[in-house]
Amino acid sequence: MDITRLTIAPLLIIAALLLTTETSAQPAAPAPGPAGPINLTAILEKGGQFTTFIHLLNITQVGSQVNIQVNSSSEGMTVFAPTDNAFQNLKPGTLNKLSADEQVKLILYHVSPKFYSLDDLLSVSNPVRTQASGRDNGVYGLNFTGQANQVNVSTGYVETRVSNPLRQQRPLAVYVVDMVLLPGEMFGEHKLSPVAPAPKSPSSGVSDDSNSTKKAAASPADKSGSCERKVGLGFVLGLVFLCLKFLF
Ligand SMILES: *[C@@H]1O[C@H](CO)[C@@H](O)[C@H](O)[C@H]1NC(C)=O
Ligand SMILES: *[C@@H]1O[C@H](CO)[C@@H](O)[C@H](O)[C@H]1NC(C)=O
Ligand SMILES: *[C@@H]1O[C@H](CO)[C@@H](O)[C@H](O)[C@H]1NC(C)=O
Ligand SMILES: *[C@@H]1O[C@H](CO)[C@@H](O)[C@H](O)[C@H]1NC(C)=O
Ligand SMILES: *[C@@H]1O[C@H](CO)[C@@H](O)[C@H](O)[C@H]1NC(C)=O
Ligand SMILES: *[C@@H]1O[C@H](CO)[C@@H](O)[C@H](O)[C@H]1NC(C)=O
Repeated sequence: MDITRLTIAPLLIIAALLLTTETSAQPAAPAPGPAGPINLTAILEKGGQFTTFIHLLNITQVGSQVNIQVNSSSEGMTVFAPTDNAFQNLKPGTLNKLSADEQVKLILYHVSPKFYSLDDLLSVSNPVRTQASGRDNGVYGLNFTGQANQVNVSTGYVETRVSNPLRQQRPLAVYVVDMVLLPGEMFGEHKLSPVAPAPKSPSSGVSDDSNSTKKAAASPADKSGSCERKVGLGFVLGLVFLCLKFLF
């Protein structure tokens, strides 16, 4: 009895001390509620099915650009996040055939420099600007059509439903889309920049099998000059990936 009391007493004192330090530390901790800065990656990670999109947002640095811009712009932003399934459903080689510049443009195309709720999208006037539009309002826009509370998005090349929001709160809205939004400007009949068949590069970072022989025959190859440039960019991208692998 006495012995147990003796051993318990110091423990109680320690426990009491711990409790008091904890309570006195509490006011310094941030109040639960208004969170820190908006982090697109964190929002997508919670969604659990956006590994490829997160990877592409990261390597193109569009993700950090959104985090910064969403904080500084009064308009807010809207992101359309294709699922991993959406990327898997692309024709083999689709991403590999894009130059590094075009990959950035493709990801920018999934971001609009304005906040849209689903209700906004039901009645928005088309086409809606994206980050890929740049200063040229006429290109890389998205068209939205609404019917019975269901919103569809069209690129002029693909059309798909805008599914549930991962976030729909100013200044950032994030919606799930079941298809990669392939811009008509890149993939449609009136391509702005014809996409050259990419050379098979062992160090290419974006993973999809290229089955390009058929495609290469179908799409006229452009001038060798731009081909060489693309090879160069691909090589640089490959090097970057290699370096990253060694660093991390
Ligand atoms: C955003 O969240 C991701 C994943 O949770 C984390 O790795 C990254 O460091 C965060 N970025 C910033 C700027 O807080
Ligand atoms: C993003 O890229 C950085 C290096 O630029 C890397 O350290 C990090 O793990 C990447 N994050 C994700 C989520 O891919
Ligand atoms: C967000 O903007 C406010 C001012 O509007 C600024 O004080 C803050 O540092 C910014 N946060 C980030 C993460 O850029
Ligand atoms: C959007 O609709 C307009 C008018 O119908 C059309 O001219 C334009 O090509 C469409 N753009 C896309 C990206 O679907
Ligand atoms: C929306 O797109 C889907 C295909 O993804 C199509 O089946 C559906 O008819 C479209 N709805 C409207 C209202 O255009
Ligand atoms: C490549 O394309 C050919 C002809 O279209 C097809 O028969 C073959 O299965 C494809 N291979 C792969 C790996 O997709």
